[in-house]
Amino acid sequence: MFENKTIDENRQGEAIVLEDGNVGSKKLFLESYGCAMNFSDSEIVASILAKDGYSTTNVLEEADVVLVNTCAIRDNAEQRVRQRLKDFKKLKKNNPDMLVGVLGCMAERLKTKFLEEEQIVDMVVGPDSYRDLPNLLSQAEEGHRAVNVLLSKEETYSDIAPVRLSSNGVSAFISITRGCDNMCSFCVVPFTRGRERSRDPKSIVAEARDLFEKGYREITLLGQNVDSYLWSGGGLKKEILTEEQKAASVNFAQLLEMVALVHPDLRVRFSTSHPKDMTDEVLHVIAKYENVCKYVHLPVQSGSSRVLEIMNRGYDREWYLNRIAAIKSIIPDCGISTDVITGFCSETEEEHQETISLMQDVVYDFAYMFFYSERPKTLAERKYEDNIPEEVKKCRLAEVIDVQREHSAIRIKGMVGKTYRVLVEGISKKSDEMMMGRNSQNAVVVFPKENHKKGTYVNVFVDECTSTTLIGKVVV
Ligand code: SAH
Ligand code: SF4
Ligand code: F3S
Repeated sequence: MFENKTIDENRQGEAIVLEDGNVGSKKLFLESYGCAMNFSDSEIVASILAKDGYSTTNVLEEADVVLVNTCAIRDNAEQRVRQRLKDFKKLKKNNPDMLVGVLGCMAERLKTKFLEEEQIVDMVVGPDSYRDLPNLLSQAEEGHRAVNVLLSKEETYSDIAPVRLSSNGVSAFISITRGCDNMCSFCVVPFTRGRERSRDPKSIVAEARDLFEKGYREITLLGQNVDSYLWSGGGLKKEILTEEQKAASVNFAQLLEMVALVHPDLRVRFSTSHPKDMTDEVLHVIAKYENVCKYVHLPVQSGSSRVLEIMNRGYDREWYLNRIAAIKSIIPDCGISTDVITGFCSETEEEHQETISLMQDVVYDFAYMFFYSERPKTLAERKYEDNIPEEVKKCRLAEVIDVQREHSAIRIKGMVGKTYRVLVEGISKKSDEMMMGRNSQNAVVVFPKENHKKGTYVNVFVDECTSTTLIGKVVV
């Protein structure tokens, strides 16, 4: 899902206090790139290493260990990590004992090649191997370069309580599935994150309850395709379940309801929905509970059925538009966002225009837009020629961005004159006199600070807006 979508891309670890109240003696600098799942994984990593005597720091120079949790989704995501490794290399000249580890998707994609290509790297650790980090660190401390990139069919880290890094104390992520079984032809994720597996719903609900008790008021359930969540006891795959086992299992709609029932003041969001799997049952749960946010992120990728076919997305334009129609009729005031890729292999100008026309039909609140970047080993790399020139890909992207800018403005203007329940997240970035929060549809709302506290709900009447933000006053 979404590289750097919901997260400040420079977000770094902050000092954490261990359970016994002592700060760990060894210092860990942990930096994350990529999607929310990577940020969520970094919180697992911090937890595992806290038990091993590490506390996190955001001062790079004082770190004993530097870990970078990487993303491989597009070439530019990898280039940014390579660039960052150069900074670490300079530091290591003054501090030769400092250990550098690469974690996450790029580690999994490159495996031992990382050690050959980047001399500075001491450890390469894939997303399913974080429990092995203490052991890998001791190997590295002894001067051996350490690698563990084994993927697992079971690992969900469900028993590990994440250390919430750089959190605002109001919103937190909870991973509900790992991996992906979809094999979209452009996508590297199935290779970097392995097979899809669902996490025990009991541990998900317990984590949500614990967060609520600690003062959190919003959770986002994370998975590459949340709609395919299915818990059937021992992580059995749905293909091999009997009808009886299926009836006893928990699907995403049921999980969403279980989490919604934790407390009416705990907002629930989720990402990412997949058009081929999103059911009306899920939409009805969203409509039924006030605290399940009226917002669906439904990546379309392309508006052309032929392109969707070669992308191996499992739906066509009509199916997708039918899902949008279902959202709009079951949840009339729902915010909708998407992901779009321009210039996929053999995409014609007419097919690109079909993406534009689909956007005109839907009028998204928000979109994450990318030009196609060929990824090694993917189906598309093996089967199709990456034959759209980069200027054309970028030109199509610019067109898509322009259309979306217009639509975001239309959607935000449509919220002026209404009153929304807003969860207060903190002080507005632009003014100390204002607070900011979001409405259920995920639009940012700012309003005068007065005595409002973060983590509380206020009703805000919106009287004006900028191109991206609602501005209003608190009403009773
Ligand atoms: N699981 C989510 C998306 C995960 S990746 C889903 O299926 O919708 C996040 C987004 O990155 C994708 O939706 C897609 O728009 C984009 N993306 C993935 N691979 C890409 C590639 N090779 N080139 C350009 N964009 C890509
Ligand atoms: Fe990638 Fe497709 Fe899986 Fe999303 S659903 S992570 S795009 S393979
Ligand atoms: Fe996420 Fe990037 Fe991996 S988008 S799953 S961190 S390839």
